[in-house]
Amino acid sequence: MAPLRSPVPLADIEPAAKPVDVAVGLPPACYTDDDFFRFEKAAVFDTEWLCVGRSSQIPEPGDYFTATLLGDEPVIVVRNRDGQINVMSSICQHRAMCITAPAERPKEHWFDPPPECRGSTRNFRCPYHWWTYDLDGRLVGAPEMHQRPDFVRSEISLPQLAVEEWQGFVFCSFAADPVPLGPRLATFDEMLANHCLHEMATTEPELLPMPFNWKVFAENFMDAYHSLRLHASLYDFSAADTGNETLLAGTFPPLAPGSIGIGGRGRTGFKDRGMNPTQSALFPPIATLSEDDRWNVVYLYVAPTLLLGAHPDSVTWMAVQPVSAGESLLTTGFLFPESTMKLRLFDQLLELHQRGRDLFLDQDMPVAVASQRGMSSRFAPQGPLSLQDFFRSQLAEWLLERYRAAQS
Ligand SMILES: [Fe+2]
Repeated sequence: MAPLRSPVPLADIEPAAKPVDVAVGLPPACYTDDDFFRFEKAAVFDTEWLCVGRSSQIPEPGDYFTATLLGDEPVIVVRNRDGQINVMSSICQHRAMCITAPAERPKEHWFDPPPECRGSTRNFRCPYHWWTYDLDGRLVGAPEMHQRPDFVRSEISLPQLAVEEWQGFVFCSFAADPVPLGPRLATFDEMLANHCLHEMATTEPELLPMPFNWKVFAENFMDAYHSLRLHASLYDFSAADTGNETLLAGTFPPLAPGSIGIGGRGRTGFKDRGMNPTQSALFPPIATLSEDDRWNVVYLYVAPTLLLGAHPDSVTWMAVQPVSAGESLLTTGFLFPESTMKLRLFDQLLELHQRGRDLFLDQDMPVAVASQRGMSSRFAPQGPLSLQDFFRSQLAEWLLERYRAAQS
């Protein structure tokens, strides 16, 4: 592949990737420019692993759900007869129809993109001309095509993406031979070992289209600097009696070469902390946690899409997909041990838990919208970072490595 060229000079990005005490923000064009978006998509999102959900969403052979990657690539995530997960394009190889699109829709939805769906099936039949594919994407039926002498059915299948599972999360990649993901997260496997993430079940993921660049969301999720200020009315992040809560003290380990994990573990002010206005976990603590774990939270970014907040009773997961320079799509859910999901009052507690999360989003989302708009201003800065902005310099460092690789 010919080298790509960043429309924003890398020399302007370098000051953002310096150590936090001397770093500045990324150039505003990195959040707003359409050409830069295309460069970044190719340099980062076409080469790395993208989180599409949890394997527990499709426990049985034939179970599937759909997703749209990077705003314009519809895929099917399906468990095949052998129990393996496939992520494959849902673009029919006859006429480019989305094979999971409904065969008919009422007038008010005629011009909407095909909706996401899930279910269980033996195969996928395109509603347009009834070309039919099995759970591995092989074409198994194509009406009338035998009349064409040069048609070889076995040569046609749905394009497959690389797939890797990490801790129950399903990742896929457009790269032909992506560097395996698991070994690049070893530090965090250790940090999260007692959460037994792979055994946790997810709530039904919610989809939220967002009118700002994907980095605005990732930076906000991991931003310790705003937590004490913007969320002051909601939550006392300063309750850490040790004075070194990770999110406030800038204690994420330095970015290891080749790593795709940025994050850390931090001691909180009291045991069994929960991200809601009661400050306390609403569900029973995860049984496999140690006494020490119950005083800690773990925040982790699995670049470039997955954001995790692991608490003593649950884990919040948020997968962010870029759609355009100024738009992104969030897929989010909560992980709980199966035993928690069987609690008699689970649904009621979950409603409170979600409302607790939404109170934070009530403050974060308007701020994200306003700063995205601000990035288009002629007065938008590459402003100096606070020492509590350490995630932003680490993200810039990680991104710059990919931008450079694409350009060389
Ligand atoms: Fe926030």
